[in-house]
Amino acid sequence: MWLPKADDAGASVGYAGAALLFATLAQWLSSQDSELETEILCWAFLPVLAKSLSQPQPKSLLRPVVSGKAKGTSTSTYSLWIVAGSAAVYSLFKSETGLIQFLVRRMPALTPLLLAAQKYLGSSPRPAGLFSPLVSTNWGAILGASFGVLTFSNWSIGSFLFSIIPAAFLFIVYTALLPRNRTSTFPPSINLENVIRPLSVRIAVLLLIIWGADLAFFGFNTTGIIRTFFLGFVKALSWSFVIQAARDASWIVAPLITTYSISFTTNPTNESSDFQAVAYAFVSVITLGQLIALLPKQARFRLTLWVFGLASLVPLLSNFWMIRDAQESAKIFGPEREHPVEGLVRSGKANFKSLLKTQSKTYKEAVEEYQRRYYAAPPPGFEAWYEFAVRQKSPIIDDFDAIHHAISPFWNLSGKRVIETMNQIHFAQNSEMWFCNFNGESATTDCAHAYRVFDRHLGFLLDRLFQGLDGALPDVKFLVNHFDEPRILIPTWGAEESRNHPQLNITNMSHQPIWNEVTKFCASKDIGKKAKTQSSAKVFDLPFVMDQSFAMNLCEHPEYRNMHGLFMSPVSFSLVEGFVPALSTGSPSTMGDILLPSPAYIEGEFVYDDSKEVGWDEKRNNLYWAGSTTGGFATDANWANYQRQRFVKLAQNLERREYYYLREMGGIIQRVASSFLNGRLFDVAFTRIFQCDRKYCRDQKRFFKVGGWADKDKALKSRLVFDLDGNGISGRYYKLLASKSAPMKQTLLREWHDDRLVPWVHYIPVSQSLEELPELVFYLTSTEAGQKRAREIAEQSRDWFFQALREKDMAVYMYRLLLELARLQDPNREAGSPATKYSTKPAPDNTKKL
Ligand SMILES: *[C@@H]1O[C@H](CO)[C@@H](O)[C@H](O)[C@H]1NC(C)=O
Ligand SMILES: *[C@@H]1O[C@H](CO)[C@@H](O)[C@H](O)[C@H]1NC(C)=O
Ligand SMILES: *[C@@H]1O[C@H](CO)[C@@H](O)[C@H](O)[C@H]1NC(C)=O
Repeated sequence: MWLPKADDAGASVGYAGAALLFATLAQWLSSQDSELETEILCWAFLPVLAKSLSQPQPKSLLRPVVSGKAKGTSTSTYSLWIVAGSAAVYSLFKSETGLIQFLVRRMPALTPLLLAAQKYLGSSPRPAGLFSPLVSTNWGAILGASFGVLTFSNWSIGSFLFSIIPAAFLFIVYTALLPRNRTSTFPPSINLENVIRPLSVRIAVLLLIIWGADLAFFGFNTTGIIRTFFLGFVKALSWSFVIQAARDASWIVAPLITTYSISFTTNPTNESSDFQAVAYAFVSVITLGQLIALLPKQARFRLTLWVFGLASLVPLLSNFWMIRDAQESAKIFGPEREHPVEGLVRSGKANFKSLLKTQSKTYKEAVEEYQRRYYAAPPPGFEAWYEFAVRQKSPIIDDFDAIHHAISPFWNLSGKRVIETMNQIHFAQNSEMWFCNFNGESATTDCAHAYRVFDRHLGFLLDRLFQGLDGALPDVKFLVNHFDEPRILIPTWGAEESRNHPQLNITNMSHQPIWNEVTKFCASKDIGKKAKTQSSAKVFDLPFVMDQSFAMNLCEHPEYRNMHGLFMSPVSFSLVEGFVPALSTGSPSTMGDILLPSPAYIEGEFVYDDSKEVGWDEKRNNLYWAGSTTGGFATDANWANYQRQRFVKLAQNLERREYYYLREMGGIIQRVASSFLNGRLFDVAFTRIFQCDRKYCRDQKRFFKVGGWADKDKALKSRLVFDLDGNGISGRYYKLLASKSAPMKQTLLREWHDDRLVPWVHYIPVSQSLEELPELVFYLTSTEAGQKRAREIAEQSRDWFFQALREKDMAVYMYRLLLELARLQDPNREAGSPATKYSTKPAPDNTKKL
């Protein structure tokens, strides 16, 4: 209600409106990079601005708020410093990530705090209007604040309860500091000369000191000078209007205006649920209502402030409209017009079918198949292995190309040479290899390292896999890489030529780019393979993965150089060059590590837990990933190109960029670009930022929306679950395969299981560029056919996991690998292929055309 009165209380509406406008603008423009600088400028500008604003101040009008104190009384320096200190700490918090969350989440709690303090001092305001219960009663205020705090903490009850504690603490400190004199005015007089100016100076001084320390600690951050000045000015403007509005109402307007600016500037597009997006708009409206209720009743045009309420609905509604529009336009895909994913799924299924059908049924067949594939006789003990595999119901009998691929380069070395090389590594300085002795009699393994004790569950894995196999295998020695990063680069020169080179080199390339090293033999390796390039043809210009091994081939993709942390700045890359047979959990296409299943796959933390599972229909229709910034060690600004950072950057929609979708234009399906990414479809966040130099840790914390601690089984609550490389292979992959969710996988690291996992059947492959990801996720979540596909892949991956990726299957693989290693190191074996009868022809390329 507004009553036109002779006084100009209407000015307070103008002040409040201007304060809302500039606070929102400042919030929208603000960046943590320049927080301290802009705050300093803000406090420097403020006294001047506040003074020029408060010139025409009709004293008669002022409510008890400023009327009380006589001009002469000056606030004590002591309390000024306290207030200045708090303001400086506030700015410091705002400039430090992690802390900003802490601060923002508690912002709405300030309203009931100030209100209670005000009541305590006996000078409560007399609010009016619809929202007045939310500021006139304690419970109303607490209710309003709780809604705000819950929204800001993403409706996490734990985080909400955690917010209460500091708020209560603040309340106690605050009331303790207040003067006990109930007749004094509240808020304390905000006389310009006596308070604002000395306060601003103090805050600016404190901030300058903090800024100096910050510069000394992190170095200078270049942000535009004009922008910084402009933002400082806008901040000062917003504060001077807040001060004016507070004079006529109450200091409570300050947290209200700040809360409004935060909720208003939250982009609804990036929210992971409709509810959350609506809740933010709701917070804007509630705080606005509270603000209006606090303004003097007689103020003219009080209700015009509701324009800000309408404004906060605009982004929300336009977001809803865009989501709807995207869903409508996807209806073009149906049975008569297939999405490209359907074709990929079909050929995946055909590949899987032939994989299942072609496995040997008898021992004789298995031997023949071995000879056909590898131009060599199977190793001694193969028959017992075959029987073991059959007993374990291994669905795979023939497809062990990964073993052959890794072992065959060593056939050119005699058995004696192989043993020699292993001993050489064993006694080398900093080889970072475990030297393992498998005892055939007891089927146990002893692994020793030059100085390490903890073997990262290597012995545990091996003993578990070989349990019950005592007496079945010969004694075998082997090397296992300590790191989760790959190690071995096998030269392409032959055994003869290798006599001209030192047998092996170990180079510490920690934090250095390694691309040139790991691809230096590309040219010679890929002669004759060029025919495969046609499989890089894109479907509708989107890089859907059609051939997984091609997608993982470094030689075919020079662009990977700057797309993966391992190649840009590995954490502890220790490169071993030479004919060194060593086992690792994963390796890129150009490297020669022999692959073993990662011990992580049987560690409690990573093992699938059926009791945490939920049915498909209860799963959220989105893509989930949470994890840390492993992948590379950030020593410069290139962290933005590491694989995990690129993924989170995209999924959190942190850059102004174009996303590609397939839409109908003029009757044909085409790739279209759009700046829209539906945040509802992505629940993706870093939970920990590390592996970085101080400055780049801070930059990343500022750049990403870092999530809180995430339950390790939270992924099971989403239909699509993402997985990608860390420093090495990702240990959580098996949990995702086993689950009733559909795994999406991006990787450049080969693993022992590659021969048996079929893309588009057991998992959804994702390209390094991620360019097809928005369309892929959209199709799998937002169309009927796509949802059916996702569910089918979820079921197939789960079925296959319990048939082909069991510990028994790892045992079948490791058993066969040890037979090959035993033959390799047989001191009686001459250099050359193991069975000369087949040695004349090179091994055929068995990589499946998927
Ligand atoms: C083995 O040696 C022969 C002759 O020295 C060479 O032609 C061949 O490429 C070598 N094979 C491997 C896998 O190094
Ligand atoms: C490699 O070098 C880094 C520092 O340059 C060092 O911290 C690390 O321990 C070294 N690694 C090995 C295996 O020697
Ligand atoms: C080891 O390094 C030397 C000197 O850089 C080089 O000539 C040699 O080929 C390397 N040996 C191997 C096995 O890569």
